[in-house]
Amino acid sequence: MNILIIGSGGRESAFAYKLAQSSKLNQLFIAPGNAGTEQYGKNVDLKVTDFQGIADFAKANNVNMVVVGPEEPLVKGIHDYFLADDKVKHIPVIGPQQEGAQLEGSKDFSKEFMVRHNIPTAAYKSFDKSNLEEGIAYLETQKLPIVLKADGLAAGKGVLICETLDDAKTELKAMIADAKFGDASSVVVIEEFLKGIELSVFVLTDGTSYKVLPSAKDYKRIGEGDTGLNTGGMGAISPVPFADDTFLAKVEERIIKPTVEGLKKDGIPYKGFIFIGLMNVDGDPFVIEYNVRMGDPETESVLTRIDSDLIDLLEGVAEGNLDTRSYSVNPKTAVTVVLVSGGYPGDYETGKEIQNTENLEDSIVFHAGTKLVDGKVVTAGGRVLAITSLQDNLFDALQQATADAGRVFYERKYFRKDIGFDLI
Ligand code: AMP
Ligand code: GLY
Repeated sequence: MNILIIGSGGRESAFAYKLAQSSKLNQLFIAPGNAGTEQYGKNVDLKVTDFQGIADFAKANNVNMVVVGPEEPLVKGIHDYFLADDKVKHIPVIGPQQEGAQLEGSKDFSKEFMVRHNIPTAAYKSFDKSNLEEGIAYLETQKLPIVLKADGLAAGKGVLICETLDDAKTELKAMIADAKFGDASSVVVIEEFLKGIELSVFVLTDGTSYKVLPSAKDYKRIGEGDTGLNTGGMGAISPVPFADDTFLAKVEERIIKPTVEGLKKDGIPYKGFIFIGLMNVDGDPFVIEYNVRMGDPETESVLTRIDSDLIDLLEGVAEGNLDTRSYSVNPKTAVTVVLVSGGYPGDYETGKEIQNTENLEDSIVFHAGTKLVDGKVVTAGGRVLAITSLQDNLFDALQQATADAGRVFYERKYFRKDIGFDLI
């Protein structure tokens, strides 16, 4: 089997690592990949939204499957593009078509979907230019804090939690009338604030049956103790200690089953991953968001715990017989610590040589923002490496990943030393 992975981050490195373990793999390509993905396959210099370039490459290189990492190509319709092109329509794409990708691409769409299928989520109403005044009046009837969400993709920045009514009114106007997040905030979802503890559950589905992948918790803030600016994710752990069997059974019954059945009832084909962001409110799960891809850095922890052959599972997705594929999860704990460039998520420098990644025997070093320049691996992004350690228990995994994160060297390296320690 020849597989093409689309993307270049730590998530795609983890996919490459896991797919490369399969005896079913012949050739692996990663477009565009990074300095680390080259150890598992061949990097291909193509942008993730260059659908024609990707399709031409897939055809010319006898690619048998395309695995899409990030949301952007899915929301922009890479899967639909393949289906519409006679020369590549036989090649399965893992990731939903544009219609299903709206679960992530439009908050309004995903809220309507949840309401239609009785999936527990925060109460909400949507507003746009035509009823902005009603939106302001609605805010006056709501409890504080209150959550404002730009409908469209806003690079993870489109959610505001407002503590005062004045702030909420100002932000609602800024989003709708002044296009604070561009087109993405022309529609805004106003949502009840849920108080609880967050975690994520991942599902792989062929559109009918599904496998529940390991749950994970990520750490989004730049600073220790979950302080400071939001980032793409500074670390992750899997499994999540407070997501016990009782809680996960509720997630499956109340959320996963109705989600997969709902897609089917609505006539929305869906072959790929569903990332369900959850709030655990006093033991009951509520959906905060859907993403139509795996999380980063959650994937680095989650895939490390899957014992089964991932190609076999993905073939099951492509062929619509996922229920016949064997699936097992390693009970050990995985912890991922992300190393970033100093200054991230603000301005940062790149091009710093990375050293000491070779001798970390008890961790896997997944590359994210790295590239090879004159034979040297240098930093090339905000998130640089994702150090992942799989150990018998949470404490050992935390210690190992954190210690190994400390062993890597590059100028202005930064990482959080407290990933997961809140759960011990
Ligand atoms: P989202 O982009 O939808 O994941 O939202 C970003 C973050 O905002 C989430 O990870 C939560 O921490 C927070 N958030 C979103 N919706 C709510 C809500 N209804 N109640 C409380 N926090 C929320
Ligand atoms: N780590 C959060 C995300 O991938 O969206």
